Amino acid sequence: MQHLITPNDFSNNEILDLFKDARLFGDLQTNSILEGKLIVTLFFENSTRTRSSFEIAAKRLGADVVNLEVQTSSTKKGETVEDTVANLNAMKPDAIIIRHSDCGLPASLVEYVDCPIINAGDGKNAHPTQALLDLFTIYEHFDGKTKGKKIAIVGDISSSRVATSNLELLPRFGLKPILVSPKKYKVSSIYKTTSKLKKIVNKLDIIMSLRVQHERHESNVLPEELEKEKQKYAKKYCITKKLIKDKDILILHPGPVNRNIDISDEILEDKRSKVLQQVANGVCVRMAILKKLILQKK
Ligand code: CP
Repeated sequence: MQHLITPNDFSNNEILDLFKDARLFGDLQTNSILEGKLIVTLFFENSTRTRSSFEIAAKRLGADVVNLEVQTSSTKKGETVEDTVANLNAMKPDAIIIRHSDCGLPASLVEYVDCPIINAGDGKNAHPTQALLDLFTIYEHFDGKTKGKKIAIVGDISSSRVATSNLELLPRFGLKPILVSPKKYKVSSIYKTTSKLKKIVNKLDIIMSLRVQHERHESNVLPEELEKEKQKYAKKYCITKKLIKDKDILILHPGPVNRNIDISDEILEDKRSKVLQQVANGVCVRMAILKKLILQKK
């Protein structure tokens, strides 16, 4: 049995096979590949895209889905996450999808289950399905010719599980990351880092913009100070027409977007922005992941 905790749980060949399936599922039509299967989702952190796209992916494949509402679950009565998962496992689901703020939690749960665990995001540690859908979007855009393509990952790198998982995955397919952030969101990395987006923009093939995760930073900043900080950030890092001009470049963002802070309204409307294509790809890539992990389960 295989789990998906980080992108390194899948080999490059397994990922290329997933992409073949994702292409077949690209029209998001319903089929019965997972008829009779049951998938449980367990989201301890907020989500729009990941949770709904997993549910839609499962339903498009004919599976049933139980979304455990954490706010009304017995975790509020002191039950541990491990006990919660062991109890859910006793009801014989075919996969458990979990998002939690604790780094490493999904990995620690595999010993409590008889079905695949899929990490839907753990703190700033990993978001493997996001990285896989991001790579799929890039791969399709460049007709598989990803080798040597330069990608700037721009924003709050230090808080971002999307950045962590993409840095694990994209170089395996020949992409060259450059990490762009203000000093306070910088991490030490084997990849080039800079705080000057304008200086490198002409060299880039792809920009992946990230949201600043204020909720993961200290919360004693006054609202007016926070607003000032956001505007200061936007001046240097917002992806605008003025920044990218008419350059042939792919613009990505995992969402949620803070409009005119991360990316301008104008660029979100621009055909170079594939933000909603990423969302659509999220469903077909997750359909491929569910099919692989559930049907190969022994
Ligand atoms: N990209 C992403 O993980 O979005 P959600 O937090 O809405 O799931």
